[in-house]
Amino acid sequence: MNLVLLGPPGAGKGTQAKLLEDRRSLVKLSTGDMLRAAVAAGSELGRQAGDIMERGELVPDALVIGLIAERVDEDDGGNGFILDGFPRTIAQAEALDRLLADRGQKVDAVVVMRVNDDALVDRITGRYTCARCGEGYHEAFKTPKVPGVCDRCGGTEFARRPDDKEEVVRSRLKAYHAQTEPLIDYYERQEKLKSVDGMAEIGAVQEEIDRALDAA
Ligand code: AP5
Repeated sequence: MNLVLLGPPGAGKGTQAKLLEDRRSLVKLSTGDMLRAAVAAGSELGRQAGDIMERGELVPDALVIGLIAERVDEDDGGNGFILDGFPRTIAQAEALDRLLADRGQKVDAVVVMRVNDDALVDRITGRYTCARCGEGYHEAFKTPKVPGVCDRCGGTEFARRPDDKEEVVRSRLKAYHAQTEPLIDYYERQEKLKSVDGMAEIGAVQEEIDRALDAA
């Protein structure tokens, strides 16, 4: 199954993609993670994308489509891909349809996570990750069991994303409403859209996604 997770910044796409990856043996492809890795590596792509990401705008379609095409080519996808943060524009969605069609595949389901904008700002500004293994936490909603120690790897250093400042979050939300929201219609017309309540608690969202996918 090839699954797209759609939703505004902070909706919980990364959180749910990680949970789905473990439960359904799918390969998670996150363009945000790939772009951050390129920035950290100081590659040409990272240099082109870094400033755009820090402003909270979308990186040009050609760059992200190239990234995904490369990954889809080199990975057989096992039981399928979970696309987290891609596509984000109609041009990206059309490119994804073509890429998968070339492999005799398609997007099977699209889960859109509905969350209100005010909650998103709180979620994102409270978010941090383990600097060693990348496990995600939140100051209020998901804290380590032992304060200051990562549940997964025992690391004690944590990091925050440079684009998680409130003013940048507002610009990311603007980009979502203007450029990504039209994908809801795009996938509704393909009868692939499943809508879930992203305001519920993490475990409840996970259950609702499972029910939606099992019925797909
Ligand atoms: P990207 O990394 O994709 O960021 P995003 O879409 O803005 O999404 P986030 O990662 O911020 O949020 P999320 O929905 O994954 O939420 P999370 O699970 O972390 O993109 C970053 C930038 O890269 C973009 O701005 C753009 O510049 C560029 N980019 C990437 N892809 C691109 C593309 N395709 N085209 C062009 N440019 C692209 O959850 C957030 C927090 O809330 C966490 O702390 C979590 O613990 C908590 N939380 C999660 N679920 C719940 C819940 N149900 N209840 C309470 N708390 C919760």
